[in-house]
Amino acid sequence: MARLERGWVLWRIRRWAAGCSPGTVVLGAAGGIGQPLSLLLKTNPAITELALFDIVNTPGVAADLSHIATPAKVVGRLPPNDGLKETLTGAEVVVIPAGVPRKPGLRDDLFKINAGIVKDLATGIATVAPKAFVLVISNPVNSTVPIVAEVFKKHGVYDPKRIFGVTTLDVVRASTFVAEIIGKPGSAPDVVVPVIGGHSGVTSSHPLPDSIAKDTFDALVKRIQFGGDEVVKAKDGAGSATLSMAYAGFEFANKVIRAIKGEKGIVAPSFVALKADPAGAEALTKELGAELEFFSSNVELGPEGVVKIHPLGKITQGETELVKAAVPELLTNIKTGTTYVLEKY
Ligand code: NAD
Ligand code: LMR
Repeated sequence: MARLERGWVLWRIRRWAAGCSPGTVVLGAAGGIGQPLSLLLKTNPAITELALFDIVNTPGVAADLSHIATPAKVVGRLPPNDGLKETLTGAEVVVIPAGVPRKPGLRDDLFKINAGIVKDLATGIATVAPKAFVLVISNPVNSTVPIVAEVFKKHGVYDPKRIFGVTTLDVVRASTFVAEIIGKPGSAPDVVVPVIGGHSGVTSSHPLPDSIAKDTFDALVKRIQFGGDEVVKAKDGAGSATLSMAYAGFEFANKVIRAIKGEKGIVAPSFVALKADPAGAEALTKELGAELEFFSSNVELGPEGVVKIHPLGKITQGETELVKAAVPELLTNIKTGTTYVLEKY
């Protein structure tokens, strides 16, 4: 093990022995997702350090949360005086919900704005906390994850096992909608439908229970793939999903934290670099019949990140077609993210 790596491992062991949890950071913590996500993280007794960063309002959000009697010590920082650098110092888990949400009429601009935000934040992480687990919520996830990866490559600190696109909201939705259809509403934690491919739209797909009738199937697939539209429409110009996303982000972050702390067998779908598990990638690539740099599948998590990327396994003919349909758009989305960084640096 290289000296730097060994030093880092020892530092982590010492911190945990002293009762500290993995240092958890939210970038974009004052936003529609950031605030409820930070609240949920504050309620987790396993978290002892919670650092919040945004370009506005984080001191207020942190002061507010600090009145809740749970172990997490909360700090809120803003950009002046190296706020990002201080926030990221010692970070082990960094969740990024920074960026603009979808609104009617905002299409290409959303990518340009969020790509710039994610690139800058990823640069901060690569410089200050290159070993951190990075959990990307900012949209479009299928492109922002490749942006983080490229920035890390540029800084020579890329570890494909530690960068995750958060696709948990798709899983939360799929599980909720399926539970309703099979007559078990409210039982979504027991009915878990993994979502594969990418985040949202035709890039996401899902093995659904056989018991779902064909006529319900098509409508269900559309509702899962375009669940975000339902919320954007209902919010009527006020943004996209925030509360369900905060719940989903919290769920995924908790799984990552439990895995970092050594719990075995934690599996969750996430949009990851297939390089993170070459053997898993080989099997998946065979199933897909296409080579993709990133894909969302069930991923086993461990203390050093991705342990195993699961194959799609047995899926029906209809689902195979959905996965095939996802591939061309995914390839385009990934290239958009990668090219953005290659052209900007
Ligand atoms: P929001 O506008 O309410 O909040 C975004 C926050 O990011 C704001 O507080 C803003 O000040 C902050 N921000 C902007 N630039 C920043 C920077 N450089 N550094 C730190 N903070 C910065 O938006 P929201 O509703 O919370 O959505 C945030 C993002 O999450 C959007 O891109 C949205 O599309 C995405 N999203 C993803 C999913 C998913 O499933 N992955 C689901 C819902 C929303
Ligand atoms: C979602 O799935 O709700 C998010 O990706 C937000 C959006 O723009 O749809």
